[in-house]
Amino acid sequence: MRVRPAKRGPRMSGNTRHVPVMLRRCLDMLAPALAEPGAVVVDCTLGLGGHSEALLATFPAARLIALDRDPSALRLAGERLAPYGDRATLVHAVYDELPEVLDRLGVPRVQGVLFDLGVSSMQLDEADRGFAYAQDAPLDMRMDQTTGISAADVLNTYAPGELVRILRSYGEEKQAKRIVEAVVRERAKEPFRNSARLVELIREALPQAAKRHGGNPAKRTFQALRIEVNGELASVERAVPAAVKALAVGGRIAVLAYHSLEDRIVKQVFAAGATNTAPPGLPVVPEQYQPRLKLLTRGAELPTEEEVAENRRAAPARLRGAERIREDIA
Ligand SMILES: C[S@@+](CC[C@H](N)C(=O)[O-])C[C@H]1O[C@@H](n2cnc3c(N)ncnc32)[C@H](O)[C@@H]1O
Repeated sequence: MRVRPAKRGPRMSGNTRHVPVMLRRCLDMLAPALAEPGAVVVDCTLGLGGHSEALLATFPAARLIALDRDPSALRLAGERLAPYGDRATLVHAVYDELPEVLDRLGVPRVQGVLFDLGVSSMQLDEADRGFAYAQDAPLDMRMDQTTGISAADVLNTYAPGELVRILRSYGEEKQAKRIVEAVVRERAKEPFRNSARLVELIREALPQAAKRHGGNPAKRTFQALRIEVNGELASVERAVPAAVKALAVGGRIAVLAYHSLEDRIVKQVFAAGATNTAPPGLPVVPEQYQPRLKLLTRGAELPTEEEVAENRRAAPARLRGAERIREDIA
């Protein structure tokens, strides 16, 4: 983990390359917690800094701590946020390291947390990162290219049963077995290196009926590989409870998820925090059993039709929010 102040980066500005999703709604949700001087807001998924910049501009009394595991995102967002000087601290870290990051910065509690989960526009647009099925590129898909194994490693080395499990559970791919049989046949001839060969193989492996719906037939396999390569679900499972724990009473958290598996984790963490855990039949609920969270959204909120028309990538977004209303009692 590297902690560094926001500073001017060497490359182009990020602000032309990404429209922050459900921005107004995220700001409104966090607003009541961020008005006081000294408020700290953590953007756990800095990306190109769209949400972060809006947080700094909208809440002039607040300080921002922003995390990303992708060094390129930190470089581009660093350039964008440079005008805010030391109000912004950018940190190279995975978001499950949030408690350690706050510890190192000497910030025991925060007033706001934002997660905008998943992959960034920049990661999708940079063909050589291998996230996009529409362009031929090395099958990498690591958000942090300095560590971990690539999507090609997963395809070339995992046992067939494990690949089927990944495609089914992370990609919700009904044809997982058929695709994996084809992958295993092909990788015996020559290991996978590039995305085009995988896209072609999926196209050939799927029955005609399965290709009629749901966009590009490689979409679900690519999502599954990306989630596996970056350990995304395990990371969300650890990070969202840790973020709730870091909130001061009155602090607020907003999470944007882009597929049902992530959204389910967020929903469960918030629901558990908002539930009275007292054994049934107690006449008065003791403090330690009372909910720590108040839900700020009924179900998940969706982007408006206008937003989706302007920004196709907002379409799958699901926003949930919660407010911390009580300390944990040991
Ligand atoms: C959807 S983008 C965020 C876009 C950002 N809100 C903006 O307005 O520009 C998600 C970002 O989260 C980062 N990310 C994904 N998983 C992460 C993790 N476990 N830890 C830290 N950063 C992560 C990705 O590298 C990516 O840059």
